[in-house]
Amino acid sequence: MTIARSHTDGPMARRTAAGIFAALALLGSLGLSTAARAQSAASEGEKIAFDRSKGNCLTCHEIKGGTLAGSIGPALTDIKSKYPDRNELIAIVTDETKRNPQTVMPPFGRNHILTDKEISAVVDFLQTL
Ligand code: HEC
Repeated sequence: MTIARSHTDGPMARRTAAGIFAALALLGSLGLSTAARAQSAASEGEKIAFDRSKGNCLTCHEIKGGTLAGSIGPALTDIKSKYPDRNELIAIVTDETKRNPQTVMPPFGRNHILTDKEISAVVDFLQTL
């Protein structure tokens, strides 16, 4: 009797339960930190997009949250639904002249105005628009 009870309620069972809780807590915090990382990349991207010495996107594009926007390019709205494939956005920001040789949009990647990492953050931001 005592042996049987200790098998189900004993320290082994408690350790297993504790292990499961620890694993669940770890999974939960991993999920949160992934969301938090995406969030922080998007807000980093917003900073780069609005920074006059970096993306300077507001010179040509109206963007939600930005001020003193120009209208040389189209307003950047509904970008996520227009370009569900983020690689397409990476391509546009890296070198729009590939799509449109006549464009006035600077090739931010090809001309090393922005690094690949900065372009990726800008695209994370564009996908929130
Ligand atoms: C000198 C003006 C200029 C600047 C600066 C500029 N763009 Fe553009 N952009 C344009 C023009 C013009 C277009 C229209 C498409 C074309 O010319 O090929 C465009 C198109 C786009 C498009 C496609 C929009 C659509 O609705 O299809 C995106 C996305 C975009 N730009 C993002 C950016 C981002 C992000 C930045 C800043 C890192 C930026 N642009 C900076 C001029 C500019």
